[in-house]
Amino acid sequence: DTFHRFPLHMVHGIPLMEPIVQQWGPIEDFQARPDDLLIATYPKAGTTWMQEIVDLILVRGDVEKAHRAPTHIRMPFLEICPTPPMPSGVQQLVDVPSPRVIKTHLPFQLVPKSFWENRCKVIYVARNAKDNVVSYYFFDQMNKTQPEPGPWELYLRKFMEEKLAWGSWYDHVCRYWDERTNHNILYVFYEDMKEDPAREIRRVMDFLEVELPPEVLEKIVWQTSFQVMKENPMANYSSVPSTILDQDVSPFMRKGEVGNWKNYFTVAQSEVFDAHYQRRMEGSSLHFRTQI
Ligand code: PPS
Repeated sequence: DTFHRFPLHMVHGIPLMEPIVQQWGPIEDFQARPDDLLIATYPKAGTTWMQEIVDLILVRGDVEKAHRAPTHIRMPFLEICPTPPMPSGVQQLVDVPSPRVIKTHLPFQLVPKSFWENRCKVIYVARNAKDNVVSYYFFDQMNKTQPEPGPWELYLRKFMEEKLAWGSWYDHVCRYWDERTNHNILYVFYEDMKEDPAREIRRVMDFLEVELPPEVLEKIVWQTSFQVMKENPMANYSSVPSTILDQDVSPFMRKGEVGNWKNYFTVAQSEVFDAHYQRRMEGSSLHFRTQI
């Protein structure tokens, strides 16, 4: 077992897993191409869902094509490669033909400058804080490369203290929100995708300047539903060895719901969280439909 739970180190004030820190030079210097598409998220906000939507749009609903390889091979993760021997997506991306779709969890200020210089399109997915932290808690139990999550109570506190890997959820969602009009950023909410997937997929199609007939859109809605993606070996991360992602501990496609946090937050935790949230997000024009 060559894997262990990597410690976090600070890069420009953001806690990141050790292998990312070791590769920071090449990541920072990454040369984006103008037709690269970046899918940016805080971890567990709906990255894989958006990746599947984007890929199916680009292959115009051809399911066979979308099943050509697992998510992390089709659309590499910029700052870390989930499977050995590549340390990060940077090396992997050399061999990916354009137009490339790239995943990142980096906060706005750590995204390689070349993405902004080239005016690359960026799709940002944001998910309400409570569901996001619950999803992250289960992920940190099953992902054997991330630090031990410890008990829920402490984990929740670490989230509020902005100490989890990839840093502050609050800064992450707010900064991309504030920058969306300065750059080519489409800002999408997980909750909106759940409410009306066809509507949100159409927004993505417009952003990508792809037109598809209604029956293809319907097909993409179905192929990217939670139930279908959960069973799709090219989308559910089952190809990643269990020494890295142990899906017996918690499946990658865990619940896929809005409001699942209610099963994990006590009433007291929810009240403390809400009060802190109000203070922390005060003055921001970003609003989530959190209390659903
Ligand atoms: S990662 O590791 O950061 O890339 O994870 P990410 O893909 O961002 O987030 C995983 C959560 O998204 C849920 N998911 C979905 N929800 C609804 N519909 C679809 N199709 C879908 N695909 C993935 C997944 O179940 C995780 O959320 P939780 O709440 O843990 O179930």
